[in-house]
Parts: sequence; structure tokens; C-alpha cells
Amino acid sequence: MADTMEATPIVPLPAPFSGEADRRPPAARLLRIVRRLPPPLYSTSLGMAYHGDALEVLRGLPDASVNLVVTSPPFALRRKKAYGNVSPDQYKGWFIDFAREFWRLLAPDGSLVIDIGGAWTRGLPTRSLYHFKLLIALCEELGEQSFHLAQEFYWYNPAKLPTPAEWVTVRRIRVKDSVNTIWWLSKSPQPDADNRRVLRPYTKSMRKLLKGGYNAGPRPSEHVISTKWAVDRGGAIPSNLITVANTRSGGSYLTGCRAADLRPHPARFPDELPRFFIQFLTRPGAVVLDPFAGSNVTGQEAERLGRYWIAVEREQEYLLGSRFRFLAVPGPPA
Ligand SMILES: C[S@@+](CC[C@H](N)C(=O)[O-])C[C@H]1O[C@@H](n2cnc3c(N)ncnc32)[C@H](O)[C@@H]1O
Repeated sequence: MADTMEATPIVPLPAPFSGEADRRPPAARLLRIVRRLPPPLYSTSLGMAYHGDALEVLRGLPDASVNLVVTSPPFALRRKKAYGNVSPDQYKGWFIDFAREFWRLLAPDGSLVIDIGGAWTRGLPTRSLYHFKLLIALCEELGEQSFHLAQEFYWYNPAKLPTPAEWVTVRRIRVKDSVNTIWWLSKSPQPDADNRRVLRPYTKSMRKLLKGGYNAGPRPSEHVISTKWAVDRGGAIPSNLITVANTRSGGSYLTGCRAADLRPHPARFPDELPRFFIQFLTRPGAVVLDPFAGSNVTGQEAERLGRYWIAVEREQEYLLGSRFRFLAVPGPPA
């Protein structure tokens, strides 16, 4: 691997940020995993960020060395983004090579989480099936390397713009599209997962029920609510609908990009997405990979949660900007 890939020079952080970043040496475990790769663009004690084509970089990592791949690949959008997108017709074929590498890299109880938005058919008020075709291909067309659909999630972003304007705001024949699908796939039917790691605060009414008791017994729907139901288990089990408005200003990341005159990434996902899946599907010390890292939100969240991380991004400018996320990474969120 090392002789087929050109080593990327490590670019120092621009002043006034240099010296503030995490300068601790990367952990020995991580160094063993990446030993066949050229030097990263930057590293922390828990993570390595590589500039390059993900397929090439991933080929240099050992089998079963990763616990979770969590990523938001370029979507098959009709309107091209600054970083390029594959057309819906070619999407499945493009993704499959990456998928085979993900499968090889994942531990037997590992997971692959793909945040993937839908797309419209060119010139028509109808939707593409590309992300569903991808899902079916990943679960049914990869032979021994096929994944299992552990569960589908939906990311509801109330702040999404009403597009395409032609169908939504001009002709008014479609409504706002405000969810992304997130496919949670696993290498085996029993991946490492524990919803007790991602409990949500109880609602006010649930807290009242826990305190004051409730009416056990059959409901009009014929459901029987057992007496064991109202036990305080430390929080509510979350659902597969994740609501986050993607409107955050970005803190040290945007400030750093501005100061260094670097373009911020135009399609960042909110911190909450990778954080949820890292907590739900891994334990501290696990290895998390984002092959389409963009501004490296995944690395930032893995670092906060005490997981190792490997990030790959093709556009050097985005990866350079992502370094500002690690200037002052606070401890795990409450
Ligand atoms: C949707 S963006 C990811 C954004 C990221 N989740 C964030 O929050 O910043 C997809 C990224 O994949 C990158 N990309 C596309 N093809 C790639 C490849 N073959 N190898 C590495 N990165 C690639 C693009 O440059 C783009 O930044």
C-alpha cells in the first residue's frame, strides 16, 4: 500500500491555532491498524485523518479492524454540489466497491451506518429509487459480503429548504422533503448494540407516571400493559426518528476556517447523528471509520466519546478545515 500511494505531507496549522491542537502521539493500537498507510494529514491521540481516495486508503487497513463505519457519502443529487456527486443511475455501481471494503474491514459484530438523502427525477415531480436500490444491493446482491438491515432510521431536519422550488413552492404539487434515510446495516444479524447507551430523558408525563403509578391491564387496543412497565430504567428508549435541525453555526470549526481562509464544507451533518450511532453501536476503545469524512464531524464525536477514529476525505481543503474541530474538543456530552 505504502508504495502505491503518494505520502501526503503534514501541513501545519496556521497561526494563531498552531500549538493549540492535540499534539499527543497516537495510541499504539491505532498505529498498528494504520501501519501500512502513508502519513495522515493530521492526527490526534485517538484519530488519523487521511487525504485521498477512500477506496485506496481503505485497502491499506487490515481485515476486521473497524467496529463501526458511519458516514454520509455524496448523495446522487440532480444539482451537483461543490465536491461532486454520482448520478442516480450510476450510484449503486459506484458504491458497491466501497461496500465490499467496508464489509472486509468490519469486525464480525460491526455496523455500517449510511446517511443518504433521496433525490428527484430530472424534470418530473417524482422521486428516484436510488437509495432503496442501494439498500437492496447491499443486503441481497453482494453474495457472502451482503449486509443485514439491522434497522432503518430517519433523520428529520425541520430546517430543510423547500426544494425543488418548481414542485414545492411554484406549482405547489409536492410538500417539503425533510427526512434523510439512514440505513443501519450490520455484518451479522447480531451486531454490538445497546439502546441503554443512548437513553433519552423521560418526558414530563412519563416522569409523572413513574411517580404516581398507572392503570395496568388491557387497553381498548387489546394491548396489555404489564405492571413491570413503569420502572425507572434511567431514561426513555429512543425511536428510529432522529430530529435535529441542521442550523448550527459550527463553533471553532467555522471560526478556524474563516481565519485560515478555507472553504467550510457545504454539507456537514449535525454532531448528533454520528454521536448517536457511535454511542449506540460501540464501546469506548472501539474503532470508528468515516470514509467520506468531509469536515470530520465523525472524528470529532468519536474523539469526544473516547473511541479511535479514522477519517478519509478526497478534498484537501475540507480536511484542512476539519483540524479546527480538534483545537479544544470538550469531554463527552451529557
Ligand atoms: C456529504 S459529504 C460528507 C460530509 C461530512 N459528513 C461532514 O459532516 O462534514 C461527502 C464527502 O465525501 C467526499 N468524497 C467523495 N468521494 C470520495 C472518495 N472517493 N474518497 C474520499 N472522499 C470522497 C466529498 O469530497 C465530500 O466531502
